[in-house]
Amino acid sequence: MTDTSNLDTLERDVLSQIEAAGNEAGLDEIRVSALGKKGSVSLMMRELGKMSPEERQVMGPALNGLKTRLNDAITARKDTLENAALDAALASETVDISLPVRPQPQGSLHPITQVMEELAVIFADMGFAVAEGPDVEDDFHNFTALNFPEGHPARDTQDTFFMQPDADGNRKVLRTHTSPVQIRTMLEQKPPIRIIAPGRVYRCDWDQTHTPMFHQVEGLVIDKDTHMGHLKGVLLDFIAAFFETDKVEAQFRPHHFPFTEPSAEMDVKYERVGQAVKVGQGDKWMEILGCGMVHPNVIRNCGLDPDEYQGFAFGMGVDRLAMLKYGAPDLRDFFNSDKRWLAHYGFSPLLQANLATGLS
Ligand code: PHE
Repeated sequence: MTDTSNLDTLERDVLSQIEAAGNEAGLDEIRVSALGKKGSVSLMMRELGKMSPEERQVMGPALNGLKTRLNDAITARKDTLENAALDAALASETVDISLPVRPQPQGSLHPITQVMEELAVIFADMGFAVAEGPDVEDDFHNFTALNFPEGHPARDTQDTFFMQPDADGNRKVLRTHTSPVQIRTMLEQKPPIRIIAPGRVYRCDWDQTHTPMFHQVEGLVIDKDTHMGHLKGVLLDFIAAFFETDKVEAQFRPHHFPFTEPSAEMDVKYERVGQAVKVGQGDKWMEILGCGMVHPNVIRNCGLDPDEYQGFAFGMGVDRLAMLKYGAPDLRDFFNSDKRWLAHYGFSPLLQANLATGLS
């Protein structure tokens, strides 16, 4: 019984079964049939008790060695099968992380769009809503209600584009400023009113700093005790936010507009740096906008009592603000639709203007 040749045969047989096992369940069956309670190796180990000490000395280590080698072979095969299963899963469940995340935007925001959004953000922060009016206006909203007397020469100073007269002989105009939105707002809303009105305006003019269509933003505040101090505070805060500086120096120069009394133009101190300007430094004055207290006649024309309500208005050129802030030298380029110009002066459509992370 000390012949270990049948052990060798058994070992070869089980090893080749292990090698041939195609999955973990099959491998486990082999393990049970050899090393399980009633497995072939276990049964042989039970025989050890009946052996003579000499026989046991030979067969004991032989069987233990066999058991260890089979266990090792099973563990190794199990690893191989597990790795193969993992490889198969990885191959069939791949995510191609080399795919592009998102196509790059092809277009860019026009500087005027950018500045309009900046204006809306700044004034929204001060409690202003955005109002709109039509580009084709009637004489009443563009002139009469704004206190331009009939036949008054002030109507000619605006280089007005007139439409063909209608059946009654009334000629509409392309609005020459955004001030008619003041009238529309006061006719439609009850005070307190606090709006800005950005939009296109039209005047017959064409040179480096004038185009027949350009953009303005109007501001209007009407309440019971609004005064020029409020006007000044709002405009200084606006300039500081827009030009991203806290050292604004401004002066209010007396001026004339039919729809405000008193009227002023606001100048700010600036310095030219290349094509752009730096506001808040330097020693030159630059006119930025027109403003004033809304004329009592305008308030009356909108059905409000000027003894009860008063307020201020201001208006400024958006294109000019864009030229100043972003340093484009010729206004006409703004409307040439040249993609190279837009690529240079445009803004990412994914970066929204906001006061928290900066405007531009
Ligand atoms: N409408 C004026 C212009 O176009 C600007 C302005 C608006 C002035 C409001 C005073 C008050 O020049």
